[in-house]
Amino acid sequence: MPRKDDYIAVLDSGVGGISVLRQLRKLMPNEKYIYYGDSANAPYGNRSTEEVRDLTMAAVEKILAEYPVKALVVACNTATSAAIKLLRERFSDLIIIGIEPALKLAADHFPGGRLGVMATNVTLREEKFERLMHRFGTECTISKIPAPGLVELIEAGKTDSEEMDRLLQKLLGPYVGRLDALVLGCTHYPFVSRRIARVLGQDTVLLHGGKGTARETLRRLEKAGLLHEGQGQVLIRSSDPNPAATELAWKLLNG
Ligand code: DGL
Repeated sequence: MPRKDDYIAVLDSGVGGISVLRQLRKLMPNEKYIYYGDSANAPYGNRSTEEVRDLTMAAVEKILAEYPVKALVVACNTATSAAIKLLRERFSDLIIIGIEPALKLAADHFPGGRLGVMATNVTLREEKFERLMHRFGTECTISKIPAPGLVELIEAGKTDSEEMDRLLQKLLGPYVGRLDALVLGCTHYPFVSRRIARVLGQDTVLLHGGKGTARETLRRLEKAGLLHEGQGQVLIRSSDPNPAATELAWKLLNG
């Protein structure tokens, strides 16, 4: 039986899910979190669906073997689109929350608007995203914007670099003046949102699903009577033995 003082496990291919952990902590500072970044295998976004599924399952099994967990937050759009169904089948006793590109939020804000979704190749090609496109694509104009190289730079700690500005200019320059909203459909991207906003200008609103995911986690824990009332805690683990990966995660969490 899950207990109130069990952990909320938060998982990503690397440091991206820290953007979701920040939202979770804002909303639920008293919870105990175990964050796991699979930085040794990042990025997931250019891999086959099967590979992403296997890596995600392996990461979840590792965390569950080591920590008592009451809820799992898959803080990775890519892993959610490839593995959430299987995770829910295999760990049916666990509260499992995934994240998907915030297209609904964007369509609610801009009915009939021009929306961009920047995400990994896996997220943009999976069936889950196709269903979202189907739901909102008749009313809104939706541009799919893959972002090869972006996660790699963030994982390398180069969020504030000229290299980053050059890449963002190349990826988003063609959309200047053409979008009402850009959905950041990968949990790594909020860490460069200021730089993205600088490229796209004030007329494009940036949206992401981190807050919604945190709210959903709160709702599910509340409903199950599993909210922790004691002292909050954060543990960070990485599959990459190089301490730079966890150091970067802490820096992004506290930055
Ligand atoms: N942070 C992940 C996401 O939300 C993916 C990054 C990757 O390609 O590994 O999609």
